Amino acid sequence: MTSGPLFTQAIIARKRDGHALSEEEIRGFVRGATDGSWADYQLSALLMAVWLRGMTPQETAVLTDAIVRSGSAADLSRVPRYKVDKHSTGGVGDKVSIPLAPMAAACGLAVPMISGRALGHTGGTLDKLESIPGFRTALPLREFEEQVARIGVALIGQTAELAPADRKLYALRDATATVECIPLICGSIMGKKLSEGIDGLVLDVKFGRGAFMREKARARELALALSAIGTASGKSVRALLTAMEEPLGRTVGNALEVAESVDCLKGRGPADVMEVTYALGQQMLLMGGIARTAPEARAQLEQSVSSGAALAKFAEIVAAQDGDPRVADDPGFLPRAPIRLPLVSESAGFVRGVDAMGVALAALRLGAGRTRAEDRIDPAVGVSALVKVGETVARGGTLCMIHAADRTRAEEARTILKATIELGPERLAPAPLIAEVIGA
Ligand code: URA
Repeated sequence: MTSGPLFTQAIIARKRDGHALSEEEIRGFVRGATDGSWADYQLSALLMAVWLRGMTPQETAVLTDAIVRSGSAADLSRVPRYKVDKHSTGGVGDKVSIPLAPMAAACGLAVPMISGRALGHTGGTLDKLESIPGFRTALPLREFEEQVARIGVALIGQTAELAPADRKLYALRDATATVECIPLICGSIMGKKLSEGIDGLVLDVKFGRGAFMREKARARELALALSAIGTASGKSVRALLTAMEEPLGRTVGNALEVAESVDCLKGRGPADVMEVTYALGQQMLLMGGIARTAPEARAQLEQSVSSGAALAKFAEIVAAQDGDPRVADDPGFLPRAPIRLPLVSESAGFVRGVDAMGVALAALRLGAGRTRAEDRIDPAVGVSALVKVGETVARGGTLCMIHAADRTRAEEARTILKATIELGPERLAPAPLIAEVIGA
Protein backbone atom coordinates (compact mmCIF):
# COMPACT_ATOMS: atom_id res chain seq x y z
CA MET A 1 0.00 0.00 0.00
CA THR A 2 1.26 3.51 -0.75
CA SER A 3 1.59 6.21 1.88
CA GLY A 4 0.54 9.84 1.49
CA PRO A 5 -2.66 11.82 1.58
CA LEU A 6 -4.87 9.41 -0.33
CA PHE A 7 -3.86 6.51 1.85
CA THR A 8 -4.52 8.68 4.90
CA GLN A 9 -7.98 9.65 3.71
CA ALA A 10 -8.76 6.04 2.82
CA ILE A 11 -7.94 4.93 6.37
CA ILE A 12 -10.13 7.67 7.83
CA ALA A 13 -12.95 6.76 5.46
CA ARG A 14 -12.75 3.06 6.33
CA LYS A 15 -13.13 3.76 10.02
CA ARG A 16 -15.79 6.38 9.33
CA ASP A 17 -17.73 3.67 7.49
CA GLY A 18 -17.46 1.28 10.39
CA HIS A 19 -14.76 -1.14 9.21
CA ALA A 20 -12.07 -2.70 11.38
CA LEU A 21 -8.67 -1.26 10.42
CA SER A 22 -5.79 -3.51 9.48
CA GLU A 23 -2.60 -3.63 11.51
CA GLU A 24 -0.81 -1.72 8.74
CA GLU A 25 -3.43 1.02 8.76
CA ILE A 26 -3.32 1.45 12.54
CA ARG A 27 0.47 1.51 12.55
CA GLY A 28 0.38 4.06 9.69
CA PHE A 29 -1.90 6.29 11.76
CA VAL A 30 0.32 6.10 14.86
CA ARG A 31 3.42 6.70 12.73
CA GLY A 32 1.67 9.72 11.24
CA ALA A 33 1.06 11.09 14.76
CA THR A 34 4.69 10.54 15.70
CA ASP A 35 6.54 11.82 12.64
CA GLY A 36 4.08 14.56 11.68
CA SER A 37 3.22 13.01 8.31
CA TRP A 38 -0.48 13.16 9.18
CA ALA A 39 -1.92 16.64 9.69
CA ASP A 40 -3.61 17.40 12.99
CA TYR A 41 -7.01 17.58 11.26
CA GLN A 42 -6.50 14.11 9.76
CA LEU A 43 -5.46 12.64 13.09
CA SER A 44 -8.45 14.34 14.72
CA ALA A 45 -10.81 13.01 12.05
CA LEU A 46 -9.65 9.46 12.64
CA LEU A 47 -9.89 9.92 16.41
CA MET A 48 -13.50 11.03 15.97
CA ALA A 49 -14.21 8.10 13.65
CA VAL A 50 -12.82 5.73 16.29
CA TRP A 51 -14.87 7.49 18.95
CA LEU A 52 -18.01 6.95 16.89
CA ARG A 53 -17.31 3.48 15.48
CA GLY A 54 -15.12 1.91 18.17
CA MET A 55 -12.36 -0.65 17.72
CA THR A 56 -12.24 -4.41 18.15
CA PRO A 57 -10.02 -5.81 20.95
CA GLN A 58 -7.59 -6.82 18.21
CA GLU A 59 -7.43 -3.26 16.81
CA THR A 60 -7.03 -1.87 20.35
CA ALA A 61 -4.14 -4.23 21.04
CA VAL A 62 -2.38 -3.10 17.83
CA LEU A 63 -3.03 0.57 18.64
CA THR A 64 -1.48 0.13 22.08
CA ASP A 65 1.53 -1.72 20.72
CA ALA A 66 2.04 0.94 18.04
CA ILE A 67 1.98 3.69 20.71
CA VAL A 68 4.54 1.78 22.79
CA ARG A 69 6.73 1.31 19.71
CA SER A 70 6.44 4.99 18.75
CA GLY A 71 9.22 5.48 21.31
CA SER A 72 11.61 3.42 23.39
CA ALA A 73 10.81 1.42 26.50
CA ALA A 74 12.57 2.32 29.73
CA ASP A 75 15.14 -0.25 30.81
CA LEU A 76 14.90 -0.64 34.57
CA SER A 77 16.46 -4.10 34.71
CA ARG A 78 19.19 -2.80 37.03
CA VAL A 79 16.59 -1.66 39.59
CA PRO A 80 16.30 -4.54 42.06
CA ARG A 81 13.04 -3.39 43.62
CA TYR A 82 9.59 -4.43 42.38
CA LYS A 83 8.54 -1.80 39.83
CA VAL A 84 4.92 -0.81 39.99
CA ASP A 85 2.90 2.16 38.86
CA LYS A 86 -0.62 3.45 39.36
CA HIS A 87 -2.75 5.21 36.76
CA SER A 88 -6.15 6.83 37.03
CA THR A 89 -8.59 7.01 34.15
CA GLY A 90 -9.19 10.63 35.14
CA GLY A 91 -11.21 12.54 37.66
CA VAL A 92 -11.84 15.92 39.21
CA GLY A 93 -9.61 16.86 42.13
CA ASP A 94 -7.80 13.55 41.61
CA LYS A 95 -4.34 14.36 42.94
CA VAL A 96 -3.74 10.83 44.29
CA SER A 97 -0.58 10.14 42.25
CA ILE A 98 1.24 12.99 43.99
CA PRO A 99 1.05 11.62 47.55
CA LEU A 100 0.91 7.95 46.48
CA ALA A 101 4.13 7.77 44.43
CA PRO A 102 6.40 8.98 47.27
CA MET A 103 4.51 6.87 49.84
CA ALA A 104 4.97 3.71 47.76
CA ALA A 105 8.63 4.51 47.12
CA ALA A 106 9.20 5.22 50.83
CA CYS A 107 7.77 1.74 51.52
CA GLY A 108 10.38 0.10 49.28
CA LEU A 109 8.79 -0.08 45.82
CA ALA A 110 10.20 1.44 42.64
CA VAL A 111 7.64 3.75 41.00
CA PRO A 112 8.41 4.79 37.41
CA MET A 113 5.39 6.95 36.64
CA ILE A 114 4.43 8.43 33.24
CA SER A 115 1.40 10.65 33.77
CA GLY A 116 -0.73 12.89 31.58
CA ARG A 117 -1.85 16.47 31.40
CA ALA A 118 -5.39 17.76 31.91
CA LEU A 119 -7.69 15.79 29.61
CA GLY A 120 -11.24 16.83 28.80
CA HIS A 121 -12.71 18.19 32.00
CA THR A 122 -10.29 16.24 34.21
CA GLY A 123 -7.04 17.49 35.73
CA GLY A 124 -3.61 16.08 34.91
CA THR A 125 -0.77 15.15 37.23
CA LEU A 126 1.80 16.82 34.95
CA ASP A 127 0.05 20.19 35.02
CA LYS A 128 -0.26 19.92 38.79
CA LEU A 129 3.43 19.09 39.24
CA GLU A 130 4.47 21.89 36.87
CA SER A 131 2.80 24.38 39.22
CA ILE A 132 5.81 23.73 41.48
CA PRO A 133 8.34 26.40 40.43
CA GLY A 134 11.06 24.85 38.26
CA PHE A 135 9.63 21.28 38.23
CA ARG A 136 10.62 19.40 35.05
CA THR A 137 8.28 16.68 33.81
CA ALA A 138 10.09 16.08 30.49
CA LEU A 139 13.13 14.10 31.64
CA PRO A 140 15.27 12.42 28.99
CA LEU A 141 14.87 8.63 29.11
CA ARG A 142 18.34 8.04 30.60
CA GLU A 143 17.67 10.54 33.36
CA PHE A 144 14.30 8.93 34.09
CA GLU A 145 15.96 5.51 34.39
CA GLU A 146 18.77 6.89 36.49
CA GLN A 147 16.41 8.69 38.87
CA VAL A 148 14.26 5.59 39.42
CA ALA A 149 17.45 3.61 40.14
CA ARG A 150 18.77 6.31 42.51
CA ILE A 151 15.73 7.43 44.51
CA GLY A 152 13.13 4.82 43.57
CA VAL A 153 10.66 7.11 41.83
CA ALA A 154 10.27 9.60 38.98
CA LEU A 155 7.14 11.44 37.80
CA ILE A 156 7.27 12.39 34.15
CA GLY A 157 5.14 12.82 31.03
CA GLN A 158 5.23 11.38 27.54
CA THR A 159 8.36 12.63 25.79
CA ALA A 160 9.93 12.46 22.34
CA GLU A 161 11.44 9.18 23.59
CA LEU A 162 8.64 7.65 25.69
CA ALA A 163 5.21 7.12 24.07
CA PRO A 164 5.56 10.20 21.79
CA ALA A 165 2.47 9.20 19.78
CA ASP A 166 0.37 9.47 22.93
CA ARG A 167 1.77 12.94 23.58
CA LYS A 168 0.37 14.06 20.23
CA LEU A 169 -2.91 12.12 20.29
CA TYR A 170 -3.60 13.01 23.93
CA ALA A 171 -3.40 16.74 23.18
CA LEU A 172 -5.68 16.37 20.17
CA ARG A 173 -8.24 14.25 22.04
CA ASP A 174 -8.31 16.85 24.79
CA ALA A 175 -9.34 19.54 22.32
CA THR A 176 -11.66 17.51 20.06
CA ALA A 177 -14.11 15.80 22.46
CA THR A 178 -12.68 12.36 21.66
CA VAL A 179 -11.66 11.33 25.15
CA GLU A 180 -14.48 9.07 26.39
CA CYS A 181 -13.70 6.06 24.22
CA ILE A 182 -12.51 2.70 25.56
CA PRO A 183 -10.03 1.82 22.76
CA LEU A 184 -8.49 5.31 22.79
CA ILE A 185 -8.20 5.31 26.59
CA CYS A 186 -6.66 1.82 26.47
CA GLY A 187 -4.11 2.84 23.83
CA SER A 188 -3.25 6.01 25.73
CA ILE A 189 -2.92 4.55 29.21
CA MET A 190 -1.35 1.23 28.32
CA GLY A 191 0.86 2.85 25.64
CA LYS A 192 2.47 4.84 28.44
CA LYS A 193 2.42 2.10 31.06
CA LEU A 194 4.01 -0.55 28.83
CA SER A 195 6.83 1.92 28.06
CA GLU A 196 7.79 2.38 31.71
CA GLY A 197 9.59 -0.87 32.44
CA ILE A 198 7.12 -1.91 35.17
CA ASP A 199 6.39 -5.34 36.64
CA GLY A 200 2.91 -4.42 37.87
CA LEU A 201 0.22 -1.82 37.50
CA VAL A 202 -2.66 -0.67 39.68
CA LEU A 203 -5.48 1.10 37.87
CA ASP A 204 -7.95 3.51 39.40
CA VAL A 205 -10.90 3.28 37.04
CA LYS A 206 -13.40 5.99 37.83
CA PHE A 207 -17.15 6.06 37.30
CA GLY A 208 -19.73 8.74 37.97
CA ARG A 209 -20.60 12.20 36.76
CA GLY A 210 -17.02 13.50 36.96
CA ALA A 211 -15.55 10.45 35.17
CA PHE A 212 -15.25 9.55 31.49
CA MET A 213 -17.34 6.45 32.21
CA ARG A 214 -20.59 7.51 33.83
CA GLU A 215 -21.82 4.01 34.69
CA LYS A 216 -20.03 1.49 36.83
CA ALA A 217 -20.68 -1.24 34.25
CA ARG A 218 -18.82 0.79 31.59
CA ALA A 219 -15.97 1.44 34.03
CA ARG A 220 -15.75 -2.32 34.66
CA GLU A 221 -15.63 -2.89 30.89
CA LEU A 222 -12.78 -0.37 30.66
CA ALA A 223 -10.96 -1.96 33.61
CA LEU A 224 -11.20 -5.40 32.00
CA ALA A 225 -9.99 -4.09 28.64
CA LEU A 226 -7.01 -2.32 30.25
CA SER A 227 -6.19 -5.37 32.36
CA ALA A 228 -6.36 -7.71 29.36
CA ILE A 229 -3.78 -5.60 27.48
CA GLY A 230 -1.48 -5.48 30.51
CA THR A 231 -1.77 -9.19 31.21
CA ALA A 232 -1.14 -10.08 27.56
CA SER A 233 2.14 -8.16 27.88
CA GLY A 234 3.16 -10.11 30.97
CA LYS A 235 2.33 -7.44 33.56
CA SER A 236 0.41 -8.03 36.77
CA VAL A 237 -2.60 -5.73 36.76
CA ARG A 238 -5.16 -4.91 39.44
CA ALA A 239 -7.95 -2.38 39.07
CA LEU A 240 -10.10 -0.52 41.55
CA LEU A 241 -13.44 0.89 40.49
CA THR A 242 -13.85 4.13 42.42
CA ALA A 243 -16.65 6.68 42.57
CA MET A 244 -16.18 10.12 41.02
CA GLU A 245 -19.46 11.87 41.80
CA GLU A 246 -18.08 14.76 43.85
CA PRO A 247 -14.50 16.01 43.44
CA LEU A 248 -11.83 14.12 45.36
CA GLY A 249 -10.69 16.24 48.29
CA ARG A 250 -11.46 19.90 48.82
CA THR A 251 -9.38 21.47 46.04
CA VAL A 252 -9.54 21.55 42.23
CA GLY A 253 -6.79 23.45 40.42
CA ASN A 254 -3.12 22.77 39.92
CA ALA A 255 -1.15 24.51 42.70
CA LEU A 256 -4.09 24.14 45.09
CA GLU A 257 -4.03 20.38 44.54
CA VAL A 258 -0.28 20.20 45.12
CA ALA A 259 -0.81 22.01 48.44
CA GLU A 260 -3.53 19.48 49.35
CA SER A 261 -1.22 16.61 48.34
CA VAL A 262 1.40 17.97 50.72
CA ASP A 263 -1.28 18.01 53.42
CA CYS A 264 -1.88 14.31 52.67
CA LEU A 265 1.81 13.60 53.08
CA LYS A 266 1.75 15.45 56.39
CA GLY A 267 -1.10 13.26 57.63
CA ARG A 268 -3.79 15.91 57.41
CA GLY A 269 -5.26 15.20 53.99
CA PRO A 270 -9.01 14.95 53.35
CA ALA A 271 -10.50 11.57 54.31
CA ASP A 272 -11.61 10.68 50.76
CA VAL A 273 -8.21 11.37 49.17
CA MET A 274 -6.52 9.33 51.89
CA GLU A 275 -8.98 6.45 51.46
CA VAL A 276 -8.33 6.15 47.71
CA THR A 277 -4.59 6.68 48.15
CA TYR A 278 -4.32 3.97 50.80
CA ALA A 279 -6.55 1.55 48.85
CA LEU A 280 -4.39 1.86 45.73
CA GLY A 281 -1.16 1.81 47.76
CA GLN A 282 -2.26 -1.39 49.52
CA GLN A 283 -2.57 -3.17 46.19
CA MET A 284 0.85 -1.87 45.10
CA LEU A 285 2.52 -3.13 48.28
CA LEU A 286 0.75 -6.50 48.06
CA MET A 287 1.75 -6.95 44.42
CA GLY A 288 5.35 -6.10 45.23
CA GLY A 289 5.49 -8.53 48.16
CA ILE A 290 6.30 -5.66 50.55
CA ALA A 291 3.28 -6.66 52.67
CA ARG A 292 1.46 -9.98 53.03
CA THR A 293 -1.97 -8.69 54.04
CA ALA A 294 -4.02 -5.59 53.30
CA PRO A 295 -3.93 -4.36 56.95
CA GLU A 296 -0.15 -4.82 57.00
CA ALA A 297 0.14 -2.81 53.76
CA ARG A 298 -2.09 -0.09 55.16
CA ALA A 299 0.01 0.10 58.35
CA GLN A 300 3.19 0.49 56.29
CA LEU A 301 1.68 3.27 54.20
CA GLU A 302 0.44 5.06 57.32
CA GLN A 303 3.86 4.67 58.87
CA SER A 304 5.48 6.25 55.79
CA VAL A 305 3.32 9.30 56.46
CA SER A 306 3.61 9.49 60.26
CA SER A 307 7.39 9.02 60.14
CA GLY A 308 7.81 11.82 57.59
CA ALA A 309 9.49 9.39 55.15
CA ALA A 310 6.89 9.93 52.40
CA LEU A 311 7.09 13.72 52.69
CA ALA A 312 10.90 13.54 52.59
CA LYS A 313 10.65 11.36 49.47
CA PHE A 314 8.34 13.90 47.86
CA ALA A 315 10.87 16.68 48.56
CA GLU A 316 13.59 14.43 47.10
CA ILE A 317 11.56 13.95 43.87
CA VAL A 318 10.91 17.67 43.58
CA ALA A 319 14.60 18.50 44.06
CA ALA A 320 15.70 15.76 41.62
CA GLN A 321 13.40 17.21 38.96
CA ASP A 322 14.62 20.78 39.56
CA GLY A 323 11.53 21.95 41.43
CA ASP A 324 11.61 24.08 44.55
CA PRO A 325 11.58 21.51 47.40
CA ARG A 326 10.50 24.19 49.88
CA VAL A 327 6.90 23.56 48.71
CA ALA A 328 7.06 20.38 50.81
CA ASP A 329 7.26 22.58 53.91
CA ASP A 330 5.42 25.68 52.89
CA PRO A 331 2.71 25.97 50.20
CA GLY A 332 3.50 29.70 50.17
CA PHE A 333 6.18 28.82 47.59
CA LEU A 334 3.46 27.75 45.13
CA PRO A 335 1.86 30.32 42.79
CA ARG A 336 -1.12 32.18 44.24
CA ALA A 337 -4.04 33.79 42.42
CA PRO A 338 -4.59 37.52 43.01
CA ILE A 339 -8.37 37.25 43.50
CA ARG A 340 -9.99 35.11 46.21
CA LEU A 341 -13.75 35.08 46.35
CA PRO A 342 -15.90 32.98 48.68
CA LEU A 343 -19.08 31.27 47.50
CA VAL A 344 -21.43 31.95 50.37
CA SER A 345 -24.42 29.73 51.12
CA GLU A 346 -27.80 31.41 50.89
CA SER A 347 -29.44 28.81 53.11
CA ALA A 348 -28.61 26.36 55.88
CA GLY A 349 -28.71 22.61 55.32
CA PHE A 350 -26.82 19.44 54.57
CA VAL A 351 -24.68 19.07 51.46
CA ARG A 352 -26.46 16.50 49.27
CA GLY A 353 -24.35 16.75 46.16
CA VAL A 354 -21.33 18.51 44.68
CA ASP A 355 -21.37 17.87 40.94
CA ALA A 356 -17.79 17.06 39.97
CA MET A 357 -18.49 18.02 36.35
CA GLY A 358 -19.81 21.44 37.38
CA VAL A 359 -16.75 22.10 39.55
CA ALA A 360 -14.51 20.99 36.66
CA LEU A 361 -16.24 23.42 34.30
CA ALA A 362 -15.79 26.24 36.81
CA ALA A 363 -12.09 25.39 37.13
CA LEU A 364 -11.80 25.33 33.32
CA ARG A 365 -13.45 28.74 33.12
CA LEU A 366 -10.91 30.03 35.64
CA GLY A 367 -8.06 28.83 33.39
CA ALA A 368 -7.01 25.66 35.23
CA GLY A 369 -7.37 23.53 32.05
CA ARG A 370 -7.27 23.90 28.27
CA THR A 371 -9.95 24.43 25.64
CA ARG A 372 -7.37 24.46 22.80
CA ALA A 373 -4.26 22.30 22.60
CA GLU A 374 -1.96 25.35 22.68
CA ASP A 375 -3.66 27.05 25.67
CA ARG A 376 -1.50 27.90 28.66
CA ILE A 377 -2.77 26.79 32.02
CA ASP A 378 -2.88 29.19 34.94
CA PRO A 379 -1.32 27.13 37.75
CA ALA A 380 -2.68 29.30 40.56
CA VAL A 381 -6.40 29.31 39.85
CA GLY A 382 -9.11 26.91 41.00
CA VAL A 383 -11.33 26.13 43.92
CA SER A 384 -10.45 25.30 47.53
CA ALA A 385 -12.27 24.64 50.81
CA LEU A 386 -15.02 22.77 48.93
CA VAL A 387 -17.73 21.34 51.12
CA LYS A 388 -18.29 17.57 51.00
CA VAL A 389 -21.46 15.51 50.79
CA GLY A 390 -22.94 14.92 54.27
CA GLU A 391 -21.52 18.09 55.84
CA THR A 392 -23.68 20.78 57.41
CA VAL A 393 -23.60 24.34 56.14
CA ALA A 394 -24.92 27.42 57.95
CA ARG A 395 -26.64 30.27 56.12
CA GLY A 396 -23.83 32.63 55.19
CA GLY A 397 -21.28 29.80 55.52
CA THR A 398 -18.59 29.26 52.88
CA LEU A 399 -19.30 26.55 50.28
CA CYS A 400 -15.91 27.01 48.64
CA MET A 401 -13.23 29.59 47.92
CA ILE A 402 -12.64 30.68 44.31
CA HIS A 403 -9.07 31.54 43.24
CA ALA A 404 -9.04 33.62 40.05
CA ALA A 405 -6.82 35.75 37.86
CA ASP A 406 -9.45 38.48 37.60
CA ARG A 407 -12.80 39.51 39.02
CA THR A 408 -14.84 38.71 35.88
CA ARG A 409 -13.76 35.10 35.76
CA ALA A 410 -14.19 34.75 39.52
CA GLU A 411 -17.81 35.91 39.17
CA GLU A 412 -18.42 33.56 36.22
CA ALA A 413 -17.01 30.62 38.17
CA ARG A 414 -19.15 31.60 41.14
CA THR A 415 -22.29 31.41 38.98
CA ILE A 416 -21.32 27.94 37.70
CA LEU A 417 -20.43 26.71 41.19
CA LYS A 418 -23.66 27.96 42.71
CA ALA A 419 -25.56 25.50 40.53
CA THR A 420 -23.25 22.57 41.37
CA ILE A 421 -23.67 22.41 45.13
CA GLU A 422 -26.98 21.02 46.30
CA LEU A 423 -28.23 21.46 49.88
CA GLY A 424 -31.18 19.73 51.52
CA PRO A 425 -32.87 19.31 54.88
CA GLU A 426 -31.59 15.77 55.59
CA ARG A 427 -28.11 14.36 55.84
CA LEU A 428 -27.16 11.99 53.01
CA ALA A 429 -24.46 9.47 53.74
CA PRO A 430 -21.78 9.70 51.02
CA ALA A 431 -21.77 6.66 48.71
CA PRO A 432 -18.83 4.23 49.17
CA LEU A 433 -15.76 5.38 47.28
CA ILE A 434 -14.23 2.00 46.49
CA ALA A 435 -16.83 -0.05 44.66
CA GLU A 436 -14.84 -3.07 43.50
CA VAL A 437 -11.35 -4.51 43.26
CA ILE A 438 -10.61 -6.48 40.09
CA GLY A 439 -7.73 -8.90 39.79
CA ALA A 440 -6.65 -9.08 43.46
N1 URA B 1 -5.43 8.86 31.23
C1 URA B 1 -4.66 8.72 30.12
O1 URA B 1 -3.45 8.71 30.21
N2 URA B 1 -5.27 8.60 28.94
C2 URA B 1 -6.61 8.61 28.80
O2 URA B 1 -7.08 8.48 27.69
C3 URA B 1 -7.42 8.76 29.95
C4 URA B 1 -6.79 8.89 31.16
